[in-house]
Amino acid sequence: MKKVKVGFIGVGGIASVHMANIAQHEHADIVAVCDIVEASARAAGEKFGATVYTDSSDLLEKEKIDALFICVPPFAHGNIEEKAAQLGIHLMVEKPIGLDLPSVQTKLKAIEDAGILCATGYCLRYLDTIEKAKGFLNGREIAMVRGYYLTSFVHTPWFREIEKSGGQLVEQATHILDLIRYLCGEINQVYANMNLNVLKDIPNINIPDVTSLNFTFESGAVGHLDCSLTQPDHRMGLEILGKDFRVEVNGTDVTIVEKDKKTIFKSNVNFYEQQDKAFIEAVQTNDTKQILSTYENGIKTLAVTLAAYESNETNTRIVIK
Ligand SMILES: NC(=O)c1ccc[n+]([C@@H]2O[C@H](COP(=O)([O-])OP(=O)(O)OC[C@H]3O[C@@H](n4cnc5c(N)ncnc54)[C@H](O)[C@@H]3O)[C@@H](O)[C@H]2O)c1
Repeated sequence: MKKVKVGFIGVGGIASVHMANIAQHEHADIVAVCDIVEASARAAGEKFGATVYTDSSDLLEKEKIDALFICVPPFAHGNIEEKAAQLGIHLMVEKPIGLDLPSVQTKLKAIEDAGILCATGYCLRYLDTIEKAKGFLNGREIAMVRGYYLTSFVHTPWFREIEKSGGQLVEQATHILDLIRYLCGEINQVYANMNLNVLKDIPNINIPDVTSLNFTFESGAVGHLDCSLTQPDHRMGLEILGKDFRVEVNGTDVTIVEKDKKTIFKSNVNFYEQQDKAFIEAVQTNDTKQILSTYENGIKTLAVTLAAYESNETNTRIVIK
């Protein structure tokens, strides 16, 4: 089978994970990399034997690639998606896919008009344990969800600025919010309280260090998600409660609690690797069924997280359209 030629725009933290996966994939080659920091682009180019660029438009104009990983920070997407789509290049876009709904809707139209595949980086969906949880929940009525993303501060310079990252819920806890949507259905209303309480001494910080989000589902279930950047360690997960059962997601483990029965599932997969394999196979076969998070899905998760900020600012309950 013909190898998938892959390009990368942004070769920082998460790109390193994807590049390692693609480099060892038997049906894919990294042919070009781009980063505005020339030294970073050069280092990645040398490591993976790829042509080096510092301008994404140059890479797209000069290279013949089948697929592109967009791994830039949330504020830096510009119109990379639109340009790649016009060239018929399939996309893997890291989450969050943007910071406002109009721009991502424009990108969605470009993606749909071009008929390209587009996956988004909601990698937790690819956990074997989440598949077990989804299977158990199929046909069961959910009463309530309790989510949490409680961690320490991320020192990446752009993370602390709301205009660049969108804040903890949009940039980070979005993973748990997306998992809640994946396992429990669509959220139709949100009400949030956020504040910058105890991390005010961090230079240039203007994102909340605590978030308390309440929501309701179309199904009538209710839920909440607590986020904080104040902790010395990292905890993320959720509990899904129904009549005489509970599904607990704790990191990558899933525990199903029923009357007189407790089943624990430990993950045996690398979810990033699973995600990248699914994307490459989708590009090869032009079959999207293994892509568990599309661009449209990325928009739905972004919409809920942006609505939470609107709720906090306006002190009102926001209906998700
Ligand atoms: N799925 C996950 O688990 C996961 C984990 C970490 C980060 N992410 C997401 O990936 C994205 C990148 O995060 P990161 O931690 O890798 O950030 P990073 O700061 O480590 O890397 C971003 C890279 O993009 C480069 N860049 C910025 N603007 C550019 C442009 N216009 N053209 C080319 N290169 C450009 C920067 O120089 C930097 O090297 C974010 O959206 C983040 O939320 C996802």
